[in-house]
Amino acid sequence: MNASSPIGIFDSGVGGLSVLLEIRRSFASEDLLYVADSACVPYGDKSPQFVEARSVAIAEFLVDRNAKAIVVACNTATGAAITTLRSRFSVPIVGVEPAIKPAAEKTASGVIAVLATSGTLSSDKFAKLLARFGGDVDILIQPCAGLVEQVETGELHGEKVRALIAKYVLPLLERGADTIILGCTHYSFLAPLIREIAGPGVSIVDPNAAIAHELRRRLESNGLLSPDLRSGTERFWTSGAPDDVKPVISQLWNADVEVRRLPKRYCSQDILFRAPG
Ligand code: DGL
Repeated sequence: MNASSPIGIFDSGVGGLSVLLEIRRSFASEDLLYVADSACVPYGDKSPQFVEARSVAIAEFLVDRNAKAIVVACNTATGAAITTLRSRFSVPIVGVEPAIKPAAEKTASGVIAVLATSGTLSSDKFAKLLARFGGDVDILIQPCAGLVEQVETGELHGEKVRALIAKYVLPLLERGADTIILGCTHYSFLAPLIREIAGPGVSIVDPNAAIAHELRRRLESNGLLSPDLRSGTERFWTSGAPDDVKPVISQLWNADVEVRRLPKRYCSQDILFRAPG
């Protein structure tokens, strides 16, 4: 593994592609490996142990493919697994968490809202985040069952997703929220619709630029930024059925891409239920 090696990125499904897009914008010459754990999506309603075991298996795959750094492009997996991943793997590991601090600095009404999966909102990591940065503002917590599944179908504008967003967002506005945090990488693809439903007076806070920034900092400090001048490549894997997942990845990535099946040894029930540690 060296500075010319690829960067590995994973999520429960296609949500992490929102992070991948930002990474591609910021790192033109890096080679990128992306894993969608589509056989196990959504992570949000699974146990932390399950999500941790899946995260370890996928990180093993990425390290076996020579990844020089790993981006956990999933708030739920970051909450459940980042400590274990950092203790098990020596490459830099960057996670994603709801951006409470920037939202608390931004709000004028003093009320901010977090949209996330129930897995993220019930994690110890999120409790610590609230304790650390949430002191001076009211924080409304909104689990958004069904939104991840909606993004997985690639249906980002239909009546069903519109109704779900209205159900989750409008009560937050009635309670005074003027800042909404996208605490799940899938929701970035719904940001235009959330913005439309919430109206112009509400700020939407998306952490993707901050993740790319942190990745640059970690690569630089480890001497791992790519020295190559050519355009970087992307490769995609799924634990689900490639034929089903390929159209949605191609839609969200804006290009017709090849999607391979994640090798069985990183998907087996043994790995799914193996206790990490
Ligand atoms: N993109 C994941 C996140 O950021 C979605 C989790 C899920 O699969 O429920 O939390």
